[in-house]
Amino acid sequence: MIKMNVVIEAINLTKYYGNFPAVRGVTFSVNEGEVFGFLGPNGAGKTTTIRMLTGVLKPTSGQVRVLGYDMTREPEKLKARQRMGIVPEMANPYIDLTAMQNLKLMGELYGLPKWEIEKRSIELLKLFELYEKRNIKVRGFSKGMRQRLVLAMAMIADPELYFLDEPTSGLDVISARIIKDIIRDEKKAGKTIFLTTHNMNDANELCERIGIIRKGKLVAIDTPEGLKRLTKEHLSVEVSLKPMMFDPSVLSSALRVERLGDKVKIYTNDPDKTVKEIVEYAKERKLKIVSIRTLSPSLEDVFVEIIGGKND
Ligand SMILES: Nc1ncnc2c1ncn2[C@@H]1O[C@H](COP(=O)(O)OP(=O)(O)O)[C@@H](O)[C@H]1O
Ligand SMILES: [Mg+2]
Repeated sequence: MIKMNVVIEAINLTKYYGNFPAVRGVTFSVNEGEVFGFLGPNGAGKTTTIRMLTGVLKPTSGQVRVLGYDMTREPEKLKARQRMGIVPEMANPYIDLTAMQNLKLMGELYGLPKWEIEKRSIELLKLFELYEKRNIKVRGFSKGMRQRLVLAMAMIADPELYFLDEPTSGLDVISARIIKDIIRDEKKAGKTIFLTTHNMNDANELCERIGIIRKGKLVAIDTPEGLKRLTKEHLSVEVSLKPMMFDPSVLSSALRVERLGDKVKIYTNDPDKTVKEIVEYAKERKLKIVSIRTLSPSLEDVFVEIIGGKND
């Protein structure tokens, strides 16, 4: 058996703001080389957890060890931080500095030699498609460009472990894709990544394991496929008809019908029967089937089932 190297370990991690419990007895560990996704609705406690894991916030109780260091202890946690890249929620580079100057400043904070800062900054600016803009003050950057720069800054010292708090949230498509591709490359290079996100597709594509947090409590933790197996009745058939006339009441196999743009999604326990019913329905009414496909439960289905509308 291969022995896994535990990189992040949280035991009974708890944080009260006054008498409000934001994080309640969260226990989990993350192994070396793993991308661990931390999912939960707004206010669930994701950022509070990340702040405790990175030593920014002291837990009310519980333990947190990262790279073998106790993150609640002053001299120790600084050693761990030297080996981490952190992208806090809604982080901002210095707007009066250029992209290049921000990277250099970060390199100095990590104590890197000048030549290395120079070399690494150029590599990263190119990687994040910011090289042409390297001498422009960040004040003139779009949100997506700023976020790319923040991630580049977190990568300056080539850290072995990343904490990324909603790195692609609210970004333009191109910036989000650049960031996602780079996260994927860092994972391939064997880095450990702790990622919070709202985006189910991102989590599904990037993460080896996912923890779901609700009202400060960890309510599920598994691989994306393992989580999907938790739900039973989420097979569905997605169909687009032309013209888009659809009366769900004629399908005896439909459990629930959702309209999605120019398609309908029909939840069913018997996709075979549903497909046959749709084909029959279209034939009778002389409708063209533009597309039809059977879908397995998505991570979003699982998430909705676990979280429901019950986060209040
Ligand atoms: N500094 C603070 N003081 C008081 N309450 C806070 C503070 N920071 C966060 N909270 C509350 O703690 C809960 C968890 O917040 P947070 O960790 O930011 O959640 P998430 O990142 O999952 O959206 C929320 O209800 C939030 O309002
Ligand atoms: Mg947050």
